[in-house]
Amino acid sequence: MTNNSTVLALKYRPVNFDQLIGQELIGETIYNSIKLNKVPNAYLLTGIRGTGKTSIARIIAKVLNCKNGFENLCKDNFCENCEAITNSNHIDIFELDAASQSSVENTRELIEFSRYAPTSSKYKIYILDECHMLSKQAWASLLKTLEEPPEYLKFIFATTEIRKVPITIVSRCQRFDLSRIKSDQLFQFIKKITEKEKGRVTDEALKLIVKLSEGSVRDALSLLDRGLLSSTMPRVVTNAKIALIDREIEIKKTEIDANIQIKTPDQMQGFLDQDDQLPYVYGKGNQYKANNANAAWLASNVG
Ligand SMILES: Nc1ncnc2c1ncn2[C@@H]1O[C@H](COP(=O)(O)OP(=O)(O)OP(=O)(O)O)[C@@H](O)[C@H]1O
Ligand SMILES: [Mg+2]
Ligand SMILES: [Zn+2]
Repeated sequence: MTNNSTVLALKYRPVNFDQLIGQELIGETIYNSIKLNKVPNAYLLTGIRGTGKTSIARIIAKVLNCKNGFENLCKDNFCENCEAITNSNHIDIFELDAASQSSVENTRELIEFSRYAPTSSKYKIYILDECHMLSKQAWASLLKTLEEPPEYLKFIFATTEIRKVPITIVSRCQRFDLSRIKSDQLFQFIKKITEKEKGRVTDEALKLIVKLSEGSVRDALSLLDRGLLSSTMPRVVTNAKIALIDREIEIKKTEIDANIQIKTPDQMQGFLDQDDQLPYVYGKGNQYKANNANAAWLASNVG
């Protein structure tokens, strides 16, 4: 499946919990719940872009459906279920991309189809990716089945924007908040990949990549892709530096904007980003991102 022309982010997609970085607790919790025979009706995975939501959704599907059973999960040599799930073509695992299939017709079809038991595995699994894009009616059509699904049916929702998911849905799911990947962990990760790819990238450049990625593994790998393709490393470093400066200017601009636009708590609503320090401010149809420096200001002004 992998070859040299594949982009790094796909070539290195984690296929089991051991290959994921930064989300150790999630794997552990999921294993334990299965061990104790307490598999929830639905999992909800949330976190910023490129931190492993889609990958984890497929890994959960494998853990639940591996032919060797939960105690002897496939590692490298995949059984037919694990193989098919990894390649997204298992007959009992449906991935709905809610970004392009957000209508109630799409979800009704799923519900209709859920009446039939799985053909070749223990569980039929619906993975609804980018689920915050689902329409109101689409969510409504899922509620009843989500509450009382047939025993063989499991849902996995993934989203970058948990705040757009109806609370009635959130409360029916086992929720996992994926964290941003810590800088040193991300650095080690892309350094190892650089070595595997026999690339020549300086530590200085790798550090810049990590900084630009803001904790997203996919972003780091995409930047590394560009770095490895470029024949002259100094140019990559220069480009990364320029991008970094641009980014800082951009943040400054939005900070100023946010400061100007936020007047009273009822005019705007401010939220602290779940995973860490970055507060997001919503107002006048825009989403602003501010940095630590004005987090205190936001907290006191936005309430
Ligand atoms: N925690 C992680 N450990 C290792 N690699 C990761 C991790 N998260 C993401 N990646 C890399 O980034 C790629 C994209 O990951 P994935 O599709 O799982 O992210 P996502 O959270 O679903 O992103 P998005 O929000 O954009 O849908 C993977 O193929 C993999 O190469
Ligand atoms: Mg995804
Ligand atoms: Zn297997």
